[in-house]
Amino acid sequence: MPHKVISIATSKGGAGKTTLCISLASAFAEQGGRIALVDTDPQGSLTSWAEKADLPESIAVFSESTDENRVIDLIEAASQTYHLTIVDVQGTANTLAHTAMAFSDLVIIPMKASEFDARAAFDTLTAVRAVSRSRRSEIDFMPVLNCLSPAIASRTAQAIREGFEEAGIAVQTGLSEREAFRCISAYGGSLFQLSDSQAPGLTKAKAEALDFAGLVADRLGISQTQAA
Ligand SMILES: Nc1ncnc2c1ncn2[C@@H]1O[C@H](COP(=O)(O)OP(=O)(O)OP(=O)(O)O)[C@@H](O)[C@H]1O
Ligand SMILES: [Mg+2]
Repeated sequence: MPHKVISIATSKGGAGKTTLCISLASAFAEQGGRIALVDTDPQGSLTSWAEKADLPESIAVFSESTDENRVIDLIEAASQTYHLTIVDVQGTANTLAHTAMAFSDLVIIPMKASEFDARAAFDTLTAVRAVSRSRRSEIDFMPVLNCLSPAIASRTAQAIREGFEEAGIAVQTGLSEREAFRCISAYGGSLFQLSDSQAPGLTKAKAEALDFAGLVADRLGISQTQAA
């Protein structure tokens, strides 16, 4: 199985990048995959999550928020041991972000259902296209509407989807807004290590994370269990 690299990036803060990184890693690890998470965000959210609880042996977290050569080293080293590397990327207008994108097979661009998030997502995919041009090969990207209410259809989300479609870009659906996803950062550990008493709605959250991992695996051209 070839090693694949995913970056999760947007220039907008709080769109759910770190939570998506953890949920995807949790879902792939649950299927038997070995996952390296690379924290390039100076805030260090992934790193502090990793310190909160013992992680499954199949998930490892590395951090480097200043030196892009070290990020490349980490990705290359991870390719020897892990099936998948997921990079948490802060912002898009910095060298580290461009480096992470340049080494990625897929850039996931999360946005909440807000016009501000949608603009940031569009700026981010423009940045991915620019990096594709400079490396002279296409980097796949996937804008994702994230943190939607599971109960109420959002008109803003629909308008955002249509706006992207007019530009010929399909928008996927990420994780719904669920307390269980919020609990990941509170308790640490994989989504699949949480208990029902810690995380309300955990069953639905786990199913959603697995579905999203399936979508990502399809996009990468691997079957979800092949990531194992
Ligand atoms: N699917 C979700 N359901 C409920 N809460 C969520 C979900 N995804 C993220 N959150 C919450 O939203 C906040 C922002 O999420 P997160 O830290 O993952 O975003 P981020 O894009 O990494 O932010 P930053 O730009 O600060 O790095 C956190 O409090 C997180 O718990
Ligand atoms: Mg973050």
